[in-house]
Amino acid sequence: MTMPGRFITLEGVDGAGKSTHLGFVAERLRARGHEVVVTREPGGTPLGETLRELLLHRDMDAGTELLLMFAARQQHLAELIQPALARGAWVVSDRFTDASYAYQCGGRGIDAARVAALENWVQQGFAPDLTLLFDVPAEVAESRRSAARAADRFEREADSFFNRVRQAYLVRAAAEPERIRVLDARQSIAALQDEIARLLDALA
Ligand code: TYD
Repeated sequence: MTMPGRFITLEGVDGAGKSTHLGFVAERLRARGHEVVVTREPGGTPLGETLRELLLHRDMDAGTELLLMFAARQQHLAELIQPALARGAWVVSDRFTDASYAYQCGGRGIDAARVAALENWVQQGFAPDLTLLFDVPAEVAESRRSAARAADRFEREADSFFNRVRQAYLVRAAAEPERIRVLDARQSIAALQDEIARLLDALA
């Protein structure tokens, strides 16, 4: 019998720097001999990437946005995440359902009960084994974002939006401190990677 793999997610407001650490997480796990699949949300499958284009660039109702996030997630789970875990691969995803609570509830103001209903419907109890939350004040994230490429629909939001997103992430982390590990993303890359390495090594 193959041991099922583990599912690790990276979260944080846009500009927190999580994408910088995605490759480090994958390499650390590969060095331990695991097959590692790196993916992202929204996206991760051909259909999911098409939905991502709409989500990042087309104006839409907040409820539509939430439903499309979960439509992409359903496809992602069925086509990529679940089969990979079943064959023993470890899956590392740049964002997952915590982002729906942070952005669609915290940011857009959708009732958390609606997200919970979709989460139950799509995931049926499935959740990440470990979530790394890259936490920075909204102003720091903003200064990191402005250096980057043309902003998408989320990145154009005001600091007040990202403050709400950040708070919603922190509330989730406080409720699930074992799964969601908060990292102070103002630290140097090297200091963060030491901390990430310790957390990964603790995950059997
Ligand atoms: P992001 O992961 O930041 O990619 P990039 O670094 O390439 O910009 O972009 C995805 C955006 O989607 C991000 O702004 C957050 C948003 N998002 C949600 O609002 N809800 C979700 O459930 C997910 C997965 C992402």
